[in-house]
Amino acid sequence: MTEPLIIAIDGPAGSGKSTVARRVAAALGIAYLDTGAIYRAIALALSQAGIPPVEKDELRKALAGLSVEITPGGLKVNGREAGIEIRSPFADSIVSPYAALPSVREALLTVQREQGERTSLVADGRDMGTVVFPGAAVKIFLTASDHVRAERRRLELQARGDASTFGEVLERIRERDRIDSTRETAPLRMADDAVEVDTDGLSIDEVERAVLVHIAKKLQDKG
Ligand code: DC
Repeated sequence: MTEPLIIAIDGPAGSGKSTVARRVAAALGIAYLDTGAIYRAIALALSQAGIPPVEKDELRKALAGLSVEITPGGLKVNGREAGIEIRSPFADSIVSPYAALPSVREALLTVQREQGERTSLVADGRDMGTVVFPGAAVKIFLTASDHVRAERRRLELQARGDASTFGEVLERIRERDRIDSTRETAPLRMADDAVEVDTDGLSIDEVERAVLVHIAKKLQDKG
């Protein structure tokens, strides 16, 4: 049996990772693993259970009993389907503190790796190329200025009826960048063997094309 093909796409909030990763997965005919969605759903489940983002016994107990089911079209945490609420400004504001906790990351490591053992996939997140799939065949790091990322996110929220201003969205993006890249466990960082794609000024189609070209070249080099 041939080994599953893993394409790791990392980058900060709003860099276009999930749109690009989803499209690239569809173009290659393989699965898409949205690890941010898993962190978001878990942060919401913990917060709804009244468990704050601090390393304490109650958190560890909740994580020990945690069930995460990933299916091609969905994600269930503790038997509950993760819905659109995982994309809300509230979820945005609570997810990074939970994702910074070593016990949360540890609990999710196995869940994510199991997916990659089962099937070929494009995985997007913050530590795909550095921690979760260090042996990934292709690693991409997407970047964009914080202003461009905030405007993309504002438009996305607006389309869903949320009236957050550019300034509010920019502030939240900067705060998430700060927490995601300064945490001690698995901070947002480009893997040494990743290629950086700066998406400022590029359309989604152009980013998708650039990523697909890089993947083809990398796979060809590997034979
Ligand atoms: O990609 P996203 O915006 O949906 O991610 C939500 C949060 O989850 C983000 O602020 C950081 C965290 N995250 C992470 O720490 N590691 C990942 N692999 C994916 C997301």
